[in-house]
Amino acid sequence: MSARQHQRKDTDRRSAYLDKLLLTGGAQLRGTVEISGSKNGCLAIMAGALLGKGETVLRGVPSIGDVHTMIDVLRALGVKSAMERPGILRIDATEIDGTEAPYELVRRMRASFSVLGPVLARKGYAKVAMPGGCDIGARPIDFHVKGIQALGAMINMDHGFVEAEASSLMGTQVYLNFPSAGATQHIMTTACLAEGVTTIHNAAAEPEVVALARFLKQMGARIEGAGTTTVRVEGVDELHGTDFDMLPDRMEAGTYAVAAVMTRGDVRIENIVPEDVEPFVLKLREIGAVVDIHEHAMRVRAKERPLATDIMTMPHPGFPTDLQQPFAALLSIAEGTSVVTENVYERRFKYVNELVRMGADIKQEGRTAIINGVPKLTGAQTSASDLRAGAALVCAGLAAEGRSEISGIEHIERGYENMIDKLKGLGADVALAPDEQEREAVCV
Ligand code: EPZ
Repeated sequence: MSARQHQRKDTDRRSAYLDKLLLTGGAQLRGTVEISGSKNGCLAIMAGALLGKGETVLRGVPSIGDVHTMIDVLRALGVKSAMERPGILRIDATEIDGTEAPYELVRRMRASFSVLGPVLARKGYAKVAMPGGCDIGARPIDFHVKGIQALGAMINMDHGFVEAEASSLMGTQVYLNFPSAGATQHIMTTACLAEGVTTIHNAAAEPEVVALARFLKQMGARIEGAGTTTVRVEGVDELHGTDFDMLPDRMEAGTYAVAAVMTRGDVRIENIVPEDVEPFVLKLREIGAVVDIHEHAMRVRAKERPLATDIMTMPHPGFPTDLQQPFAALLSIAEGTSVVTENVYERRFKYVNELVRMGADIKQEGRTAIINGVPKLTGAQTSASDLRAGAALVCAGLAAEGRSEISGIEHIERGYENMIDKLKGLGADVALAPDEQEREAVCV
């Protein structure tokens, strides 16, 4: 989806969105696809850029809905932020005029909540709307608040906002009850300008946490242990802008790998980091796919029907929860019975009924789905409830017999850059259906 459609979408996102994705399954995906920069890495790094006095240039930034929303959040804080050209984002946080991130933006995207700490660290005060839950779970922010309070901030939570105030921040010890990626990134970022040393215990070790630490260190921060369960941050007085290459999006890579296997295709996936994709590559091999890993690319192919296997989502380096839904679509056509257990979120199975509409045999209870593989899926009208559910329906539609029509695609374009063009480049029969008004115009 081009940036133009983004701008258009941004304006009418709040109105009922009618565009749909039309897919006709059956084509074996072949060729090469280039992976974009990481959505989740980018969002945390854009929040981190608020700490730096001076200009920051981010390269390899995907033009997706969530990045555009974070640009809006930074602008709402009075920070210069603009996509200079595709992939290049310039942020200048020398001055931060505002201290409040409005509800309209935070409710659109939870990750905007992570500007609270950096604004507090720069300005001594910050006010951010509380992010609500979303379709995949309650997603509380208690670990974030606990960490920022431990750094010495006075926190006030009412009227739907979190207000944080502190004349200065002090290094401290923080223990996370669960290795939350967001809380680790938020506390690590905020601690960079605190006085003394902060240690985060039971920290998340996601590649996006490691990339954020690398970015902050380039700005002058002192951080050790990112990528392990103990992160140590020694505070400094000031950080400066920097020039940073974004890490590739391992979830996008995983999604195209699933599509390649489901269509019995042969796809070269460019721009990956081998160790970052390993958790799902090992699962792909378990189900019978052939995966060759190269320095910056991987080749994924499958000739046979996939084999059933069990999946348990876990924090990194466990199996990523963000690929649970696409992999479930894959296992829905596998030979045998698979058990999928979702350990990170309490309700990340909203796609199940949609796959069942396509002929899948899945029984879901609580955090577990029992998938009895069927020989084939059939195309149907389905609806995406969230980003990765959308990805699962796209993969299912590519492998299904006949035509599928997927609505709710605004969820997909929040996190997948140019998905239609990339799939077409691999030989898929996919198109965007014009929304009703345009459809009516076409019919006349
Ligand atoms: C990040 O979310 C990603 N989002 C998610 O990807 C991803 O699923 C998740 O990490 C886990 O890998 C971004 O980076 C923008 P968490 P985050 O804090 O940081 C609970 C996608 O599809 N928790 O690691 O919000 C929480 O409810 C998205 O791209 C608390 O209880 O996830 C969840 O059950 C979806 N209290 C668990 O921890 C807290 O204060 C892990 O959440 C924070 C989290």
